[in-house]
Amino acid sequence: MSVNLDRILIIDYGSQYTQLIARRVREVGIYSEIYPPNISKEKMGDFRPSGVILSGSPDSVSNDTVDVEGLPLFVALGVPILGICFGMQSLACYTGGEVETSQEKEFGFAQVRARGHSRLLEGIQDATNESKHGLLDVWMSHGDSVTKLPPGFKVIASTLNTPIAGIADEVRKFYGLQFHPEVTHTKRGKEILERFCVEICGCAKSWSTEDFIKSSLRSIEGEIGTEKVLLGLSGGVDSSVAASLLHKAIGDQLICVFVDNGLLRLGEAEQVINTFQESMGLNIRFVNAQNEFLEALAGVTDPEEKRKIIGKKFIEVFERESLTIAGVSWLAQGTIYPDVIESAADGAGSHVIKSHHNVGGLPEHMKLKLIEPLRLLFKDEVRKVGKELGVPDDIVLRHPFPGPGLAVRVLGEVKSSYLEVLREADNIFIEEIRDANLYHKISQAFAVFLPIFSVGVKGDARSYEHVIALRAITTDDFMTAECVELDQQFLERVAAKIVNQVPNVSRVVYDVTSKPPGTIEWE
Ligand code: XMP
Repeated sequence: MSVNLDRILIIDYGSQYTQLIARRVREVGIYSEIYPPNISKEKMGDFRPSGVILSGSPDSVSNDTVDVEGLPLFVALGVPILGICFGMQSLACYTGGEVETSQEKEFGFAQVRARGHSRLLEGIQDATNESKHGLLDVWMSHGDSVTKLPPGFKVIASTLNTPIAGIADEVRKFYGLQFHPEVTHTKRGKEILERFCVEICGCAKSWSTEDFIKSSLRSIEGEIGTEKVLLGLSGGVDSSVAASLLHKAIGDQLICVFVDNGLLRLGEAEQVINTFQESMGLNIRFVNAQNEFLEALAGVTDPEEKRKIIGKKFIEVFERESLTIAGVSWLAQGTIYPDVIESAADGAGSHVIKSHHNVGGLPEHMKLKLIEPLRLLFKDEVRKVGKELGVPDDIVLRHPFPGPGLAVRVLGEVKSSYLEVLREADNIFIEEIRDANLYHKISQAFAVFLPIFSVGVKGDARSYEHVIALRAITTDDFMTAECVELDQQFLERVAAKIVNQVPNVSRVVYDVTSKPPGTIEWE
C-alpha cells in the first residue's frame, strides 16, 4: 500500500531513538518513513518528502564508520532539513562548519537557552522567565559538538557546556539541534518537531488511522480482487488486527488458520475463536495440534532448541492445513513497521518474510504472494486501527506473549502436567492484577514454572512440591525493562491463592531482576 500524503523522510544514522523520531512525527499527524543513509536517488525521488530529518548516531563524525555520502542528495532536494545530534554535526560539517570531540560526554538532562529569533524555537520554552527567549528542558547525549558555525548559519540555542547547541540557516531552512526533541524528557520536543514539519516544511496534518483504514481497504480490494488469502492467526495484536482489516476488505476470501499448539494460556484458544469467529464473523480453521507439539518437545530441555522445534512444527502444521484449502494465492502477515526497519537494517532487505514463531517463513514451494497490510504502522498505530475496526480491548491491549508460548515459561522439559499448573497459576496472577487495576500500568506480567522441589507445610503435612515465579515489568520498548514494585500485601495474597488453589505448588517467588542483566522471559 502506498500513502499519498505530505511526508517526512527520516535518515537513520543508527541512533537508538530513530524510531521515536518517526513515531513522534506521526503522532503530530504527518506521515514519515525511515530510510538508511545510502537511500538511492530514485527511491528518494519516489518518496517525494516535504522535509528531511537526520537522526543521531552512536558514532562520531570524526570516524568514517557512518555513511554520510547521501548528504549532498538530501541538500539537493531543496526541502527543509533538521539534523538531530549527529545529524546536526554532519550537516554542519557538510555546509562548511567544524565539529570537535569534547573532553566530556554530555549525557542526560540539560537546560538549553534559546537564543535570538528562530522559526524553529520561537515561543517554545519551559521555564517562565522574563526574557523573550526562554529555557528549554532537554535530553542530551553527545561527545562531539559544533565549534564553528557554517557560513549562513546562526546559533539558535546554547547550554553552559555547549555554546552551539542549535543552529539555523533560515534561508535554506536548514536546522540543527544538539539535543533530542524526540525523547519525552525534552518536554516541548513534540512541539519543536511539529513546528519543523508543519510550519517550516508546510506539511498538512493528514495522517490518521481512519484515513489509513479507508485507503487500505481500497488498496487491498484492488490488489486481491477475487483471490483467496491465508493468514496464520495467533491471537496476538498484529495478526488479529491484520485479519480484521483484511476481513473488512475481502470478507470470506480471507481464511485464517488458528493452530492450538498446547502452549497457550488458560482459555486462550476459546477466547480467540469466540472473538474472531463468533463475534466478528471471520472464517477460521481451527487446528488442534496440542499432542503433536508436546510430542516434538518431549525430552528437550534447551531453550533455543525448544524454540526451533516449535517454529518448525508450526510451519509443518500450517502448511499441511493450507494444502487442504483450495485456490489460495496469497499469504497475509501481521508484519509491522519496526519489523520492516529491523530487517532492512540487518541488510536482509525490507521484503523478507518476518521469521516469527507464529507465522514463520513458509516454504518457497507454496508460491504464495505476500500481503502485509500493517507494514507501515507502529505498534501503537496498530492498536488504534484495531480499536477502530472493533477488535475488543482484551485482544488489542493485551500484554505481549512470546511465539513459543508457555514452552519458554516451563523451564527445561515441557510436560502437560507442568503446563496445567502454570496455566492456573498464571491466570490467578493476571486476574489479581486486573482486579487491582494494574493490568494497563504493567507492560508484561506472567508466571513461570520451576520444575524444582521445595519443602512446605500444607494443613498439618509436609509438602514437597514445585515453585512458581512471578514476573511483572514495565518497559517502553522491551529492550530494557524494570521490575514492577508490587505491593507486599498484594504479592502475599497472590502467593497464598496460588499455593492454596493450584495443586503441586508449595512456594511462590517474585522476580525483581531488571533487563539488563536479566531478560524478560526466563528462557
Ligand atoms: P526477552 O526475554 O528477550 O523478551 O527480554 C523481550 C520480549 O520478547 C518476547 N519474546 C519472544 N517473542 N518469540 C516471540 O515471539 C520468542 O521466542 C520470544 N522470546 C521473548 C518477550 O515475551 C518479551 O515481550
